[in-house]
Amino acid sequence: MQIVRVLGIESSCDETAASVVENGRCMRSNVIATQIDLHKQYGGVFPEVASRQHILSIYPVVEEALQRAHMSLDNIDVIAVTRGPGLAGSLVVGMNTAKGMAFGKGLPLVGVNHLEGHIYSSWIYPAETPQPPPEPEFPLLALLVSGGHTELNLITDHLHYQRLGVTLDDAAGEAFDKVARLVGLPYPGGPSVQKAAAEGNPTAFEFPRSRLDGTWNFSFSGLKTAVLRVVRKLQEENKVLPVNDLAASFQACAVDVLFTKTMKAAREYNVKAIVVAGGVSANRALREAFTGQTEFPVHIPPLSLCTDNAAMIAAAGYYHFINGQVDPLDLDVLPTWPLS
Ligand code: KG4
Ligand code: ZN
Repeated sequence: MQIVRVLGIESSCDETAASVVENGRCMRSNVIATQIDLHKQYGGVFPEVASRQHILSIYPVVEEALQRAHMSLDNIDVIAVTRGPGLAGSLVVGMNTAKGMAFGKGLPLVGVNHLEGHIYSSWIYPAETPQPPPEPEFPLLALLVSGGHTELNLITDHLHYQRLGVTLDDAAGEAFDKVARLVGLPYPGGPSVQKAAAEGNPTAFEFPRSRLDGTWNFSFSGLKTAVLRVVRKLQEENKVLPVNDLAASFQACAVDVLFTKTMKAAREYNVKAIVVAGGVSANRALREAFTGQTEFPVHIPPLSLCTDNAAMIAAAGYYHFINGQVDPLDLDVLPTWPLS
């Protein structure tokens, strides 16, 4: 079998990342330079600071990804890069780096949708894995839960997406981040809420579960507002915030809504597998909910591939490339770019 080596580049938000993946699955390297410490002081990602840091990090990160794969650009067949969605100034850094290398080496350039990348994280395995794990089978249902997006997609084959539902307001990760801020937990909110929740009682507060029955859509702003109301009331009464209980009760609600709706859709569309992807798929309670059921095979990436990385961009880029996609060198970034 011919090996197609893809160098993936990702810079859509606050991680600068590069990775070498063979044939869309076998990960030879995966390097991520995170900017978490830089943005901590602002309580969220500061776009201008993010793009400047990407400029500083991108070449060392790409070099390290090639080095760790024991390769140079001469061994690479395709350059895949995140085209969007994301922060314009951040995306441009990855895109221009990819274009420069593609032009300089005469390599094909493939622009990839970041959300699609998250979904393809489930195809990846580290090169040292003795036996490649089975690929997710089509048709499958993908729950995509990240900081900017929450959606359910029916995927009938490689690159064939049908969006069933989407959040009508906050993304799941955004809700974790906002609730963390409300109760005084540090950025990034998702991991902080998970940590606090582990010490709390998930039934301490009865928060609303917005099910939006009859649609596959989600809504998290009511849940977030309910947490805000409780926090305000406790503060007015000069009470100490039961941060762990608040975090645990919020997390239980969010996970329940995501899990229940996904399972319902999986049954309705009679899928062969469920894929859970995006930063929030790192959440332990969400992972346990899906791995604890036995109705459907479930694919959730390892923690290192849940949040933003470039291996997922290389993997999705491979499937586009073998499907005939090669983009021109004047390809522009798309800060807003729906998956389907
Ligand atoms: O996919 P991602 O790295 O970036 C985007 O494409 O948005 O997702 C980041 C989001 C953030 O909102 C972060 O708080 C959330 O994923 N997240 C988590 C956890 N780890 C990251 N949410 C809940 N529990 C976690 N353990
Ligand atoms: Zn992401």
